[in-house]
Amino acid sequence: MRATAASLVAATKNDVPRRRATCSHGVVTADHDVSPAYGADRLAAVYDALNTWGSSDEFYLRHLMPAASVLDLGCGMLCRARVAGHRGDLVGVDPAAGMLAVARAKRDDVAWLRARAQALDLGRTFELVTMTGHAFQELLDDDDVRAVLAAVHRHLVPGGRFVFETRNPAARAWQRWTPGQTRATVRSPAGDEVVVWHDLRRVRPPDLVDYVTTFHWRGTGYTVTSASTLRFVDPVWLNTLCTDAGLRVDGWYGDWDRSAVTATSPEIIVVAARV
Ligand SMILES: C[S@@+](CC[C@H](N)C(=O)[O-])C[C@H]1O[C@@H](n2cnc3c(N)ncnc32)[C@H](O)[C@@H]1O
Repeated sequence: MRATAASLVAATKNDVPRRRATCSHGVVTADHDVSPAYGADRLAAVYDALNTWGSSDEFYLRHLMPAASVLDLGCGMLCRARVAGHRGDLVGVDPAAGMLAVARAKRDDVAWLRARAQALDLGRTFELVTMTGHAFQELLDDDDVRAVLAAVHRHLVPGGRFVFETRNPAARAWQRWTPGQTRATVRSPAGDEVVVWHDLRRVRPPDLVDYVTTFHWRGTGYTVTSASTLRFVDPVWLNTLCTDAGLRVDGWYGDWDRSAVTATSPEIIVVAARV
């Protein structure tokens, strides 16, 4: 959808404007129900430059490479699996047109589908389902989490694995989401220098965090801000939600080195199996 900055404000179920972008010139393209940082082509194009290869990729590839069929919810990781030599059946799903356009341009040997994970029903199963890059935190309430876990269950073979991660709320990562601590300068695929930073706006107990990401093109001065909300789900409750959905948690890690979850570990990395 093409939209002006004003029309990018999309109310959620409880009328909190969580998907909003404003810009200094012209228009940005965004989807109604995803953050402009992912829906808008121009912003999604910067994502890979900001999220370069890391230890999380090594962790996921150890699960991805032996699996003959993989469904990835919140796309991107499957490009890296292909680069690493995966020859199997790969399906990537994302509701954001911008992120899908980037993925499609990189790999035409992955099946890319535009959909929200909650409503997905492909009528088939996979050995592995993944949700990487903290995409799970885009699910802002229990209804969304339950819907996604049900979708995962119906797309897994018995014994198949669901691997995902969410930031550990005890580590309070949002306290470091200040312009000073997050400012990064990257080069876009078009060769432009883009300065990007996050700015915490509001913590909404019990578990929602609102923040704004600013993208500033140095050469032209073009600036876009994208407002987002993430959920920092309580780990004990998350375990219950997985169990209720027929997913048994086999692995529970606090970081990509497979260390335990503690009050300071950054992640909650879950390896679950369909019962
Ligand atoms: C932080 S990015 C992570 C991208 C990629 N998985 C990675 O590892 O870099 C979050 C992604 O989740 C997607 N997303 C948001 N809501 C979603 C939903 N309901 N179902 C599937 N994907 C969703 C966004 O569009 C975005 O592409």
